[in-house]
Amino acid sequence: MLFPDYRPRRLRRNECLRRLVRETTLTIDDFIMPFFVVEGKGIKREIKTMPGIFQFSIDLLVPEIKKVKKAGIPGIILFGIPDKKNELGTGAYAKDGIVQRAVAEIKHKVPDILVITDVCLCEYTNHGHCGMIYKKDVDNDATLDLLARIAVSHVRAGADMVAPSDMMDGRVGEIRGALDENEFTHIPIMSYAVKYSSAFYGPFREAANSAPQFGDRKSYQMDPPNALEALREVQLDIDEGADILITKPTLPYLDIIKMVRDEISHPVAAFNVSGEYAMVKAAAQNGWIDEKLVMMESLMSIKRAGADIIITYFALDAARVIMEGRGV
Ligand code: PBG
Ligand code: ZN
Repeated sequence: MLFPDYRPRRLRRNECLRRLVRETTLTIDDFIMPFFVVEGKGIKREIKTMPGIFQFSIDLLVPEIKKVKKAGIPGIILFGIPDKKNELGTGAYAKDGIVQRAVAEIKHKVPDILVITDVCLCEYTNHGHCGMIYKKDVDNDATLDLLARIAVSHVRAGADMVAPSDMMDGRVGEIRGALDENEFTHIPIMSYAVKYSSAFYGPFREAANSAPQFGDRKSYQMDPPNALEALREVQLDIDEGADILITKPTLPYLDIIKMVRDEISHPVAAFNVSGEYAMVKAAAQNGWIDEKLVMMESLMSIKRAGADIIITYFALDAARVIMEGRGV
């Protein structure tokens, strides 16, 4: 296969040829769209560091989710922002909590879209950590019961799937057990199995008002230089009963997506996080890059690395591009 006998350019000569030999396809079926829901009425507040992404009150969230459904996107993931926070994050598992009410309303008004809830405490605790604090540290085992309660309360409200993002050890097993005890054996868990302690979550913490008030998340989220450790995290969550495994962030961690994909047969979901979204938006607003092309190329790279599902703030925009037939 040496030049001049083999000429790779022959198969790149026009779009029809390129379409025929294309190895990866991005489809609307791949996407999950994240949403932030807040208390109140008539609220649509843009997140400064995430242009085009808003905090919605429940009444204005419902029409947005209708748009997402109309675009053909199979699912949404919900993050709740309560008005009041406290030491134990009790708002996270309150029967009439913000997520619980939002889920009930969405299930009522927008049937046939998958409603996934993020299960964590950081939006609800006054210290902003993803678990209980004991002696200035996040107490792993004391947090497990609360996470299980959050998950059960979300499912009682109507959630189709729960996604624990706290990174406590053993929480998938605890949540699985609690769901099963409450006759929710049919509800899948999409665990944030491989979640790095990343600076790319910055804009999210503004959006969700969830920045830790002291210290950082390094004692529970993964250390960015580690790759093999991701395999242990994934195996642990599978053994505890996870159905879908999330890895995040995406673009600086494509090697991790690829490695996890090659190792397991469970579906892999990649979370294209807030900072990744913000960077594309900022460069595009400066006229430095072509937003649509960079968006599609980024999402394609995540798919090519092996993700089955992409959780992305670009979901709606990308679905529209695909519909218009201008996908890459
Ligand atoms: C909450 C949570 C975070 C994200 C998803 N769930 C933030 C964090 O761990 O600090 C990040 C999502 C994003 O940046 O888009 N535990
Ligand atoms: Zn958290």
